[in-house]
Amino acid sequence: MDVIIWEWLELGFRWLHVIAGIAWIGTSFYFMHLDASLKSSQNLPSEAGGETWQVHSGGFYHMVKFVVAPSQMPENLTWFKWEAYTTFLSGLVLLVIIYYLGAELYLIDNNVFELSAEVAITLSASSIVIAWFVYNLLCKSTLGQFEWALGLTGFALIAASMWGFTQIFSARGAFMQMGAIIGSIMIVNVWRIVIPNQKLVVEDLIAGRSPDPRLGAEAKLRSTHNNYLTLPVLFIMISNHYPLAYASEWNWVIFVLILIVGGIIRHYFNLKHGSEKNAWWCWVIALIGITVAAWLSSISPADSEKTVSAKVETTKVSLDSQVMDIVSTRCSMCHASQPLWEGLVAAPKGIVLDTEERVKAEAKQIYISSYLSNAMPPSNVSYMENSERKLIGLWFESIESTKQASLK
Ligand code: HEC
Repeated sequence: MDVIIWEWLELGFRWLHVIAGIAWIGTSFYFMHLDASLKSSQNLPSEAGGETWQVHSGGFYHMVKFVVAPSQMPENLTWFKWEAYTTFLSGLVLLVIIYYLGAELYLIDNNVFELSAEVAITLSASSIVIAWFVYNLLCKSTLGQFEWALGLTGFALIAASMWGFTQIFSARGAFMQMGAIIGSIMIVNVWRIVIPNQKLVVEDLIAGRSPDPRLGAEAKLRSTHNNYLTLPVLFIMISNHYPLAYASEWNWVIFVLILIVGGIIRHYFNLKHGSEKNAWWCWVIALIGITVAAWLSSISPADSEKTVSAKVETTKVSLDSQVMDIVSTRCSMCHASQPLWEGLVAAPKGIVLDTEERVKAEAKQIYISSYLSNAMPPSNVSYMENSERKLIGLWFESIESTKQASLK
């Protein structure tokens, strides 16, 4: 019964997280676009920075931006903050349910680094908090006045942290840890900087003072950071279904490439919505980045350990049966119609590996998740050996070459 309740809780919070995330990122994209499309006009009040016209849902909208604030407070004012807060809170619940309560399976990998669940959770939670303080200090330091230098420093720090986390957490845990860190920075930006600054501006207006333009500039800087981080964060969130992305040998480099690719695609749209219409070079960089990432994902962690070699018998029959043995000792306790592993009520993701036919039918998935990457067994709970992973590699390649040969 417990298992069912946890499954539904997880599904429910995931649903909420996705919905809130769509609303948050949606408004964020919308306002970046709106900002970039503003044009100055003579008919505007003197405090207005620009205007634009839009058409949607059966009507025309005339938008005017007041760069610091209008001279008088409007009666009704819509704030955009609960989209971000709800995304954060639901994400936090998911992090706890999946990665903290399930730390043995998803956060820790004893082959990477031996950690107890308590230590792993403490490391994960504290680094999320520390990351915010480091980031915030950097933005407020003199470096913060140089947008590019700040951006590059942030990029280098994110890349270094990712590498660090792949040295202490499971591959999947490391990816989600970076997702949690970046996502939290984005949300705390809204919560501690963007909204409070905007509130100060409103207070000044009500008191009849003219607001400090630096408040708006600071909020804009943080919003811009958020904007460039959006696509990489979304990639991390969906990547946990793609072992090649998060659990192959060069996973941290793949992550860094995605950071660049996601940022450059955002950059293209930011330029396009402004005046620069021909920023095709952004797509060239994005394409190169994705191609290199895909190529890197073909390098198997099992192969990087040169000393082990697969002990393969020469005949095809024995290769099949050796693989069957490996799968039944390393995978079947979970991937069976009635799994023996505590807490599982059905085969995870519907992948049942109990007969030779089924194992063959799932050959590609097995190859991706346990040879090209170390995604399965999760955190190597069933102590799969590298030589066994290599054998899976040889087995799949032999199936493929048999297929190729029969086509000719
Ligand atoms: C401790 C239990 C356990 C063991 C052992 C295990 N798996 Fe899994 N497997 C899971 C769980 C849980 C998931 C679902 C992960 C998720 O939620 O994304 C999964 C998912 C998968 C998927 C689908 C990946 C996806 O996201 O679509 C494949 C393929 C897979 N396992 C293959 C294997 C193979 C091959 C082995 C043995 C080498 C193995 N598993 C061993 C628990 C296990």
